[in-house]
Amino acid sequence: MENKISKSDLVAMAMEARKQSYSPYSNYPVGAALLSKSGKIYQGTNIENAAYSSTICAERTAVFKAIYEGEREFEAIAVVTKDGGSPCGSCRQVLSEFGLDTIVWLANENGEIVLESTVEKLIPFSFGPSNLLE
Ligand code: THU
Repeated sequence: MENKISKSDLVAMAMEARKQSYSPYSNYPVGAALLSKSGKIYQGTNIENAAYSSTICAERTAVFKAIYEGEREFEAIAVVTKDGGSPCGSCRQVLSEFGLDTIVWLANENGEIVLESTVEKLIPFSFGPSNLLE
């Protein structure tokens, strides 16, 4: 990575974000920290709803915050859950919109990395901007 944020810094930021979770239904808090190519970090957490399908995941909260702030390109995202769980399909799709090369670090509640991957590996053969923009 070109900037000074380390893998462990990003995981620590995701662990911190996880503390902000609103997840009374699943009791499965998730934290995300998304590092933009400009070097800024956007944290997100899952925010559940009594109408379950209105829940938003941690990863998408982080991406939407970053996009609102004008970011479009990302170096990496760290996601922390109890067990190092993997991003859902909707989060993979949203991440893919902004680059397939984004590194993905999944960590457990102790901050131990259980998977290092990329968005492309998480969502192969994806439908994306190139299908619609030309
Ligand atoms: N969740 C995330 O925040 N990210 C994912 O990619 C997987 C699932 C949240 C949604 C819900 O609040 C809880 O985890 C259980 O599904």
